[in-house]
Amino acid sequence: MSDPPTLAPRATAWFSLIRPKAGYKRRGSCDMIGIMATTAKLYLDQVSMTFNTPAGPLVALAPVTLAIAFGRFISLIGPHGCGKSTIFNILAGVLRPTTGRVLIDGIDSTGVTGRVGYMLQKDLLLPWCSVLDNVILGMEAQGVPPCEARHRALPLLRRYGFAGLEYVHPDALSGDMRQRAALLRTLLCDTDVVLLDEPFAALDAESKLAMQDWLLGLWADFGKTMVLVTRDVDEAIYLSDEVYVMATSPGRIAQTIAVPLARPRQRQVTQASEFTALKERCLELLAVDPNSVGKAA
Ligand SMILES: Nc1ncnc2c1ncn2[C@@H]1O[C@H](COP(=O)(O)OP(=O)(O)OP(=O)(O)O)[C@@H](O)[C@H]1O
Ligand SMILES: [Mg+2]
Repeated sequence: MSDPPTLAPRATAWFSLIRPKAGYKRRGSCDMIGIMATTAKLYLDQVSMTFNTPAGPLVALAPVTLAIAFGRFISLIGPHGCGKSTIFNILAGVLRPTTGRVLIDGIDSTGVTGRVGYMLQKDLLLPWCSVLDNVILGMEAQGVPPCEARHRALPLLRRYGFAGLEYVHPDALSGDMRQRAALLRTLLCDTDVVLLDEPFAALDAESKLAMQDWLLGLWADFGKTMVLVTRDVDEAIYLSDEVYVMATSPGRIAQTIAVPLARPRQRQVTQASEFTALKERCLELLAVDPNSVGKAA
């Protein structure tokens, strides 16, 4: 692919997250947060979450510490209820952790919204707006005038598969195209971290594979740090530099699996012995029989 158009335009699919609240604090040099915390793009420092429920306290997340470097593609996999979305909500600042803090670029961003783009499984496209106007909603919410936002978004829409579909309404799009539009909206936001919570879970197998390759192209072009939640082990390995395998009761990161497969990746890599070994390792950690299932439970 040739160089992408100017990437000044950035928007988020999650409008309430767009504007950072004033006053997040940079840590002082005497703060012993360690080199990982200060150099990582994203750093979770002993973050835990306990919910108060009618049945009593529920420890959704035991203290989790993790560092994600700039520009990496990371996946979180794990069983239902192990705290994947809780981690995302904490990273996005919409949920305050019970303990610990979130650093983004070394800045304490705990409970601060607007510092990351966040896309959920549901595309949240507005049915009464055209694809173009849906894609620019995040930019508009950031204060970019609609004309300028459209001017910025149009070449990107055309470059990424929406030529001729710019002015149709979301109802006219297939499920995977709706997801693509939602993903573009998220990528256009003025954040260089993007959280994707099971964005392809509702798609059929063929569309999902196409989406994965499309996403890898976008990741390479936009150079953003991406964190994906998925239940699909193949998807996690194929896309990621590292896979965090989570466990439940309480939710925690059981292991980090590095994925040393060369990039750019082609689909055939999923047949390679290295890939199969990584998949078996993940499935072992998830306690799933690698011969019977292709996805995490
Ligand atoms: N607001 C809340 N109040 C009480 N409990 C909650 C709340 N949000 C999440 N939980 C609980 O915290 C645990 C972790 O939930 P979370 O949604 O993060 O899991 P998950 O790994 O994303 O699961 P899934 O794979 O089903 O999406 C679950 O037991 C869930 O029921
Ligand atoms: Mg979830």
